[in-house]
Amino acid sequence: MPVQGLSRRAAWAEGQPISDLMATALANPQLISLAAGFVDQQTLPVGPTHAAIEALVATPERARRALQYGITPGYAPLRERLIEQLELPPGLPAPSVEQVVITAGSNQLLHLVCESLLDPGDIVLCAAPTYLVFLGTLGNLGCRSYGVATDRQGMIPEALVEALERLEHDGELSRVKAIYLVPYFDNPQGVSMPQHRREAVVEIAKRWSRRNHHLHVIEDAAYRLLRYEGDDIPSMWTVDEEHDTVVVAGTFSKTFSPGLRVGWGILPEHLVRPVCNQKGNIDFGSPNFNQFIMAEVLDQGLFMPHVEYLRKAYSRKLECMLAAADREFGPLPGVEWVRPQGGLYVWVTLPEEIETGPSGTLQDVAMEEGVLYVPGQYCFPLEGEPAHANTMRLSFGVPTCENIEKGMAALARAIRRVMDGGA
Ligand SMILES: Cc1ncc(COP(=O)(O)O)c(C=O)c1O
Repeated sequence: MPVQGLSRRAAWAEGQPISDLMATALANPQLISLAAGFVDQQTLPVGPTHAAIEALVATPERARRALQYGITPGYAPLRERLIEQLELPPGLPAPSVEQVVITAGSNQLLHLVCESLLDPGDIVLCAAPTYLVFLGTLGNLGCRSYGVATDRQGMIPEALVEALERLEHDGELSRVKAIYLVPYFDNPQGVSMPQHRREAVVEIAKRWSRRNHHLHVIEDAAYRLLRYEGDDIPSMWTVDEEHDTVVVAGTFSKTFSPGLRVGWGILPEHLVRPVCNQKGNIDFGSPNFNQFIMAEVLDQGLFMPHVEYLRKAYSRKLECMLAAADREFGPLPGVEWVRPQGGLYVWVTLPEEIETGPSGTLQDVAMEEGVLYVPGQYCFPLEGEPAHANTMRLSFGVPTCENIEKGMAALARAIRRVMDGGA
């Protein structure tokens, strides 16, 4: 029942599956969680953070600057270093430091970009499935998420064009403001987009933009550095020759520390002022001390060795999960999974008739067997490509290899029970 006196936004913010999943995990600590998308507690960078803080406080004048408010777009030396994180191929023009805005995690950047581009009722085209928190961000703003079909290489450009044609036919094209993608080791599917698809998406965005209606592409690069196999692919920023279409969202949450919560955006020039205006009204700058710490970590050359360490640690866990999937799910008919080259997730598809969400039986049976997962249906936009209710997201970030193996065995038992009708 709507509560008197609350805003429409308060109502739009209701019903977040992530809060329910976290509450279930906290209330049942004996369960193995393959659900949480958190990073591995044991790998958090205590040593590098200690060294950075020690160096920072060793110079009182600098320490005082770090302990003071900063400026809305963030600490300039760190913003300069973040341009390097784009890893532009040599010879390409780099964005200016003014185009870099530091935020409290990339979620805040995504939020501010949406606040700057979207009015209630506007539409963002997303891969189906996509990052479920971003779907919540859109819902919170009274905006619509419209799913575009994907395959093992992410969003399908032909399906993107079909979605745009459908929306144009329905008279809704002017409401479509952006395309949101996680092109590196997607959350939740773990898939990556090859270069030709990235080029195609940017080309489509430009082609479908109109004089008063610019279609932006939001590249969420949260997992770019967590690559365990293959070669890096340049940011979509590099295929946007006019630099007026692609927004890049980055974060140190996965590659260093989510507790510091330092994220950033690289923005087309025309978006800098609107995003900083929004941010100015909210917090006029993200925690300054954390930005100084990250700048120090980068300056002391502590960041990339930590990323190397994470790559080794997570690739071992990914191998554990994939080996357990081969062993436990392999014998189950109609069960398929993606083998990602990076990131933190493995996406599993079950036979059509098995629902992984609250309207099926698997979720409860899996809890009886001792394991939690994220039902895939939560990751699907509300419109467009329909949700695939027979899917689930598994994460290997938090659990140990031993618990990954136990969790996968428990999940296989649960799936078998549901398949056998004995649940
Ligand atoms: C795809 C994606 N983008 C962005 C984020 C946000 O991270 P943060 O706000 O901590 O930078 C996450 C976190 O899980 C994510 O999976």
